[in-house]
This record gives sequence, C-alpha cells and structure tokens, in this order.
Amino acid sequence: MLTRVTLAAMAALFLAGAGVGGTAMAQDPIKARKDGFESNKKAMAEIKDLLGSDKVAQVGPVAQRMSAFGAQIPTLFPAGSDKGDTKAKADIWANNADFAAKAQAFEAAAKGLEAAAASGDKAATAKQFAAVGGTCKACHESYRAD
Ligand code: HEC
Repeated sequence: MLTRVTLAAMAALFLAGAGVGGTAMAQDPIKARKDGFESNKKAMAEIKDLLGSDKVAQVGPVAQRMSAFGAQIPTLFPAGSDKGDTKAKADIWANNADFAAKAQAFEAAAKGLEAAAASGDKAATAKQFAAVGGTCKACHESYRAD
C-alpha cells in the first residue's frame, strides 16, 4: 500500500527528473502536458458554469488546480519532446525564456483568480477569469500549432 510519504517521495523524484531535462521522467512528457492542458480546458468550462450560477467561492479550488499545473509547464517541455504526436512548435525551445514567461503569466493569472474568488467579488472574479483566458491565448498564438 502506498503511504502519503511514499507518494510525496515519488513526486519529489519526478520533479527532480524533470529538472535535469526529462531523462528520468516517470511519464511521457507529451502525454503529461496534454493531460494537463485538457484539465485546463475543463477547469475553464467549470469556472464559467460556476460564475454563471453565482458560485464565486467555488471558483478558488478550480483556479488553484490551474496554477499548480502552470508551475509545471516549463518542466513538461524537455529537449527532444518536439518530436512525436505533439502540436508544440519548435519556437518553444528557440525562445525558451519567453515561453517560460508566458507559462509564468498564466500561473500568476490563475493565482490572481484564486484571490479574486476568495474576495467573493463576482465582477472582479469574472474579470480575472477573462485575464486567465488571455494568457492561454497568448501562449497558443506563439507556441501551439493549429
Ligand atoms: C505557456 C504556454 C501555454 C499556456 C499558458 C497554455 N497553453 Fe494550452 N497548450 C500549449 C501548447 C504548447 C500546447 C500543445 C501541446 C502538445 O501538443 O504537446 C497546448 C495544448 C493545449 C490543448 C490541447 C491538448 C491536447 O489534448 O492535445 C488544450 C485543450 C489547451 N492547450 C488548453 C489551454 C487552456 C484552456 C489554457 C489556459 C487556461 C492553456 N492551454 C494555457 C501551450 C500553453
């Protein structure tokens, strides 16, 4: 049986592997990032529904899932993962600092959404939700093939 401690140790190993260029990745990075982006898409749809039904406080945990994924994005594009079943453009590796900055902008916007939701202010939360969407788009325009 896996204990919490074992799981935490495994997560640490996974992150350490990703940090040295993905050679020791526990999972295929292309699959891992696609899964993460699919979760982003679901999270955005969930938040739209929550805002539509005035459940502002419930937006926070969903936004938190997105910001946690945002922090991982740069580790999910190790060198060489431009090959395979992927829409990642080669520019990601050519302009890596800019790509990382766009990932960080997304993470920061998702954190901002958590904070806005915690304030209970629906208008501010809706505004920040739109800002998060803008950071998805900004990255896709440069770095995702159609
Ligand atoms: C820092 C860049 C970046 C940000 C920010 C970003 N994406 Fe992406 N996204 C990508 C790239 C690159 C791919 C292509 C991944 C691949 O095919 O390997 C992608 C792929 C996707 C996919 C397709 C996944 C699949 O199954 O092939 C969806 C859906 C998606 N993104 C949604 C989102 C949403 C929604 C957001 C914001 C909430 C977002 N993304 C934020 C770069 C980004």
